[in-house]
Amino acid sequence: MAANTLDSKRVIVIGGTSGFGIATARAAALAGAKVTIGSRSQANIDKALADLPKGVEGIIVDAADEAGMANTFKRIGGLDHLVYTAGDALPMQIVTTEDARKAFEVRFWGAYAAAKAAFPFIHPGGSITLTTGIAGARPWKGWAAVGACAGALEAVVRGLALEMAPIRVNAVSAGVIRTALWNNMSEADRQAFYDQQAKSLPTGRIGEGEDVAQTYLYLMQSGFTTGQTVVIDGGALIA
Ligand SMILES: NC(=O)c1ccc[n+]([C@@H]2O[C@H](COP(=O)([O-])OP(=O)(O)OC[C@H]3O[C@@H](n4cnc5c(N)ncnc54)[C@H](OP(=O)(O)O)[C@@H]3O)[C@@H](O)[C@H]2O)c1
Repeated sequence: MAANTLDSKRVIVIGGTSGFGIATARAAALAGAKVTIGSRSQANIDKALADLPKGVEGIIVDAADEAGMANTFKRIGGLDHLVYTAGDALPMQIVTTEDARKAFEVRFWGAYAAAKAAFPFIHPGGSITLTTGIAGARPWKGWAAVGACAGALEAVVRGLALEMAPIRVNAVSAGVIRTALWNNMSEADRQAFYDQQAKSLPTGRIGEGEDVAQTYLYLMQSGFTTGQTVVIDGGALIA
């Protein structure tokens, strides 16, 4: 059987200007893929492209705009792999129902809409990889809604993997990873949070974007994996 490599494959990374997305875009491009990153901001796209291997392209897309996203995939045309890592900043304590609903907007509904919009254009052998976190399996106080969103994402991945077969649909579920997502904390609070997390983990350190990128690459290339959520958390779930 031919190896399912990324060489010359078209990979679209929605959320590719930062964190998980930019690390995955870089790793995929270095593996020979033709990569396009998507985000809401041209300035962020330009900054990311300056930092990514030559040949990576950018498109403006707002994952909260379903019609806009559908048009974006029509314009893109054929692709091999969709990676969806878009996620907006979250309050550390979700108190109101409005904020609880908001947590689902980009992470769940944006991911669902992106998968639906991209699916008709994905070449045979292709895949969709969405993103979630371990807050579903190991809740934090104040983040019940974030955990619910993570659980919903895992469930929808299983359903979409059946509905979209033989296109494979999976998710990456991460523990604490050092990215811009945590930039709404002060630098001192963020460092204290990272240090406290690192101490509690079997790996003795928190994750980096490059760690997570390898999980997306695995899911794009593993032709026999679908309907799964792969955890990369430094051992947080067993600690
Ligand atoms: N970092 C962690 O510790 C961690 C752990 C578990 C799960 N997660 C989840 O993993 C996902 C990625 O996190 P990250 O750490 O990579 O975050 P990040 O560094 O803040 O990156 C988020 C990306 O999403 C894009 N984005 C946000 N809203 C968007 C929208 N409406 N449309 C299109 N793009 C949008 C941002 O681009 P623009 O701002 O340029 O639009 C950026 O490229 C998030 O859902 C996060 O909750 C993160």
